[in-house]
Amino acid sequence: MNILVVFDHPRRDSLCGALLDAFLAGLAQAGHKAEIADLRAENFDPRLPPDDEPDWDDPRKVYSPVVLAEQQRILRNDAIAFIFPVWWWSLPATTKGWIDRVWNNGWAYGDARIPLRKGLLIAAAGSDQPTFVKRGYDRAIEIQLLTGIIDYCGIPEGELVMLYNLLGDDAARKAAIARAGELGRDYFGSA
Ligand SMILES: Cc1cc2nc3c(=O)[nH]c(=O)nc-3n(C[C@H](O)[C@H](O)[C@H](O)COP(=O)(O)O)c2cc1C
Repeated sequence: MNILVVFDHPRRDSLCGALLDAFLAGLAQAGHKAEIADLRAENFDPRLPPDDEPDWDDPRKVYSPVVLAEQQRILRNDAIAFIFPVWWWSLPATTKGWIDRVWNNGWAYGDARIPLRKGLLIAAAGSDQPTFVKRGYDRAIEIQLLTGIIDYCGIPEGELVMLYNLLGDDAARKAAIARAGELGRDYFGSA
């Protein structure tokens, strides 16, 4: 399969960057072909400009060239994966803005859906799982991302993988990197 890997972190030499490396190695091991969208390195502007505002009366609105190019990048792949740090119990702003602008009315929702087969979200969290469960953040992020975005935009199979406790716990960090590798190798099946 061709997989678009959307990466969002201010530094490539971060833990999230190590998750990306392991994930890419896993994809290659399974024979998949990855295309990387490194949103921060590419200076993607997450702010929604007037050109990319949906026109609720015109589902055929032509969006900005930046958005059209991003939509083409999605369409030349079969599936999508996101790797990001959890910031305020949710997506970092650049990934959020990429979805705001690119997954737009008439293309991703409204009278159309995104023709991707699978969507995998790998979320790196500083806190541990009990903290997420205690406040319901685990359910909140899952409903928001899987129901509210992946399923809403017509991607038939989605999974959110939370990697917890990544601040200050070396064993958890090592396990998270190993898990990212396994997900790359196994999640999308055989190429
Ligand atoms: C702005 C900001 C907000 C954060 N919010 C959360 C949060 O809501 N929950 C959480 O578990 N960790 C939170 N963290 C911790 C990050 O998830 C953690 O730094 C990251 O997973 C570690 O990966 P990295 O070293 O690649 O950045 C936050 C970090 C930053 C910088």
